[in-house]
Amino acid sequence: MKVEKIKVSKIDQIDFDNLNFGSVFTDHMFSCDYIDGEWVNAQISPYKPISISPSARVFHYGQACFEGMKAFKDNKNKNWLFRPLDNYERILKSSIRLAMPEFPKELFFESLKKLIELDNAWIKPGLGNSLYIRPFIFASEDSINATEANQYKFMIICAPADSYYSGDVRVKIEKSFSRAAKGGVGYAKAAGNYAAQFYPTILARNEGYQQIIWTDSSNHEYIEEAGTMNLFFRIGDKLITAPTSDSILDGITRKSIIQIAKDQGINIEVRPIKVNEIIEAAKNNSLKEIFGSGTAVVVLPIIGFGYENEKFELPRIESPWSILLKSKLNDIQYNISEDPHGWRTEA
Ligand code: COI
Repeated sequence: MKVEKIKVSKIDQIDFDNLNFGSVFTDHMFSCDYIDGEWVNAQISPYKPISISPSARVFHYGQACFEGMKAFKDNKNKNWLFRPLDNYERILKSSIRLAMPEFPKELFFESLKKLIELDNAWIKPGLGNSLYIRPFIFASEDSINATEANQYKFMIICAPADSYYSGDVRVKIEKSFSRAAKGGVGYAKAAGNYAAQFYPTILARNEGYQQIIWTDSSNHEYIEEAGTMNLFFRIGDKLITAPTSDSILDGITRKSIIQIAKDQGINIEVRPIKVNEIIEAAKNNSLKEIFGSGTAVVVLPIIGFGYENEKFELPRIESPWSILLKSKLNDIQYNISEDPHGWRTEA
């Protein structure tokens, strides 16, 4: 792998107290090309624009997918990745579904390690701070022939991060639009899955919601996910989350939260959730919490939701599970507690 280091770091120009998620990038990036059946030109270089043909297939047919992962700094200045193998395996799954070549595992981990070493100063210590790492792959071949491409680019860019959302979050349970259908690409981190959400989300935002809770595309009867996060509902003394499927992303934070909840003795059920069950629980006051989970958001409490023409506010409860589970997860991520499931990897 070729490595070209930055001459002068831009880190001094960054206001780390006012980071806008995903809009500031570190000094270095990784790139690699897939040409004639081989991954070539693996290199780390200063973060900069790339040159790409206007006919590159990614612009026309959306052949692209990505990952989101994080590195954390502990109080001894060591950096840790959280379940990176799961991210690697998921980008392979997404790549296969989108007819893109599999990126080699050794190169994935070698490039991550080198990027973290070079951009170490960008990973700030302290709970809430992290380095958001964005691996992605796209069809770079310059041809608008509507078939899978023969050339691809795999890249990794990194952004220092604190919180994804600030302020109260309310969501809308969607009844008209769909995020993903059976047999589709909903389980993959396909770029197009996100683009398709923007328009319905703008409409929801105009009604005062920050995000949408997607429901099944057949009847809008079952809860799926929120697009940037998986969802958990606390009804009485039970925590419920929907099982993953071909229309729900297999969230790494989601499965970590399920395990931590079990470790905490929380009664957790992974099963289909009817929208009606949530509405009824909200009406009879047994709905105690809703929260989302995801790499970017970690664990995000939701304070209210809308369905059809009704609006519901959740009770402010003492000792919410969202806070407990987030703090147990953070303790593992920041090397504060034991790591009983072997999720942490020193980077
Ligand atoms: C992540 O949590 O990594 C996601 O993919 C959400 C992202 C679109 C901000």
